[in-house]
Amino acid sequence: MNGGKSLQEYHRQAYRLQDMVAVCPSMQQVLSVALQIVDVPTANVLLIGETGTGKDTLAKCLHYSSSRWDQPFVPINCAAIPEALLESELFGHEPGAFTGARGRKQGLLEIAAGGTVFLNEIADMSLSLQAKLLAATEDLHFYRVGGTELVQYNARIIAAINRNIQDAILDRSFRADLYYRLNTIQLRLPPLRERKEDLLPLAKLFIQEMCERHGRLPVRELTHEVLECLRKHRWPGNIRELRQVIERAVILSRTDKITVDDILIDTVRLAPGIQITEEGNIKVEFPPDGIALETVERILIERALQAAHGVQAHAAKLLHISRDTLRYRIQKYGLTGTNPHGDKMG
Ligand SMILES: Nc1ncnc2c1ncn2[C@@H]1O[C@H](COP(=O)(O)OP(=O)(O)OP(=O)(O)O)[C@@H](O)[C@H]1O
Ligand SMILES: [Mg+2]
Repeated sequence: MNGGKSLQEYHRQAYRLQDMVAVCPSMQQVLSVALQIVDVPTANVLLIGETGTGKDTLAKCLHYSSSRWDQPFVPINCAAIPEALLESELFGHEPGAFTGARGRKQGLLEIAAGGTVFLNEIADMSLSLQAKLLAATEDLHFYRVGGTELVQYNARIIAAINRNIQDAILDRSFRADLYYRLNTIQLRLPPLRERKEDLLPLAKLFIQEMCERHGRLPVRELTHEVLECLRKHRWPGNIRELRQVIERAVILSRTDKITVDDILIDTVRLAPGIQITEEGNIKVEFPPDGIALETVERILIERALQAAHGVQAHAAKLLHISRDTLRYRIQKYGLTGTNPHGDKMG
């Protein structure tokens, strides 16, 4: 494949730290620390950032730009894997450790030997498993589930969290001791609304990517109004949202210019009469036929599901309602693309 290139070589070219867009000072700072530690695989890294700010991308860049790029990069989403399974996924198990554990299985920490384990959404790991992980990272060895023999590992651990870390510690979903352990190097990815200088370079990057992908005319420029529009937006979905807005615009544009008509930013047309202002406030002007409360509810549920990657348990938490209530509303509004079992959607 790829003319004889291995997948790892392909990733090595696709995920280069130096290529990450970083014009704004806070992102430059992140990048300069990342470049310093890229070849210090013994240093744990904690990535903090809202959804869509680039945590996955940065984790891959840290791995594929390091001298260990040809070793395994093993990502695991702690929010998407049922509790009982997560432990044996991470640490492996011995035969007969639990019903159904037939043979011996290596855990991801072992499989990633010499490479990187990327523990995504780490605060969703149970506290007892966090304790086991803490012990493993301190001693660089662990027991497989049901095992009595110590297993050594030498993978770098990169953990990511997408919520406020102090909140997670205060509400006891994240152990303070594990936080200090993983926090050797903390990289905080700023939200896009704080990266105004990066908007244009990112937009240009995505225009090029999307023109190639969709075989469109090479779009040369964004009109002045489009830039204004992009700058005013709050970008709740961060870089992922920008990428999607640009993709849609590239597909819709009929000339070599992208105009405001091609730009559809969700929050701007939240619902007739409801807008989000530049400062992030919600502005409501009732049209003559009013606004149905249900419309607002549906939008909020859709947003929560997006933010939770379709994991219903998460979305329910974000909305302060029970899973049953959420399921009922999803049916009521005929929403799709969600996953009741909590597997992360594509
Ligand atoms: N610096 C960057 N340059 C170019 N593209 C980027 C950059 N950072 C992120 N992206 C793109 O933005 C999108 C979202 O990034 P990513 O998946 O890494 O975010 P995330 O923080 O892991 O999100 P989530 O919390 O939802 O998992 C991806 O399409 C990625 O390719
Ligand atoms: Mg991610």
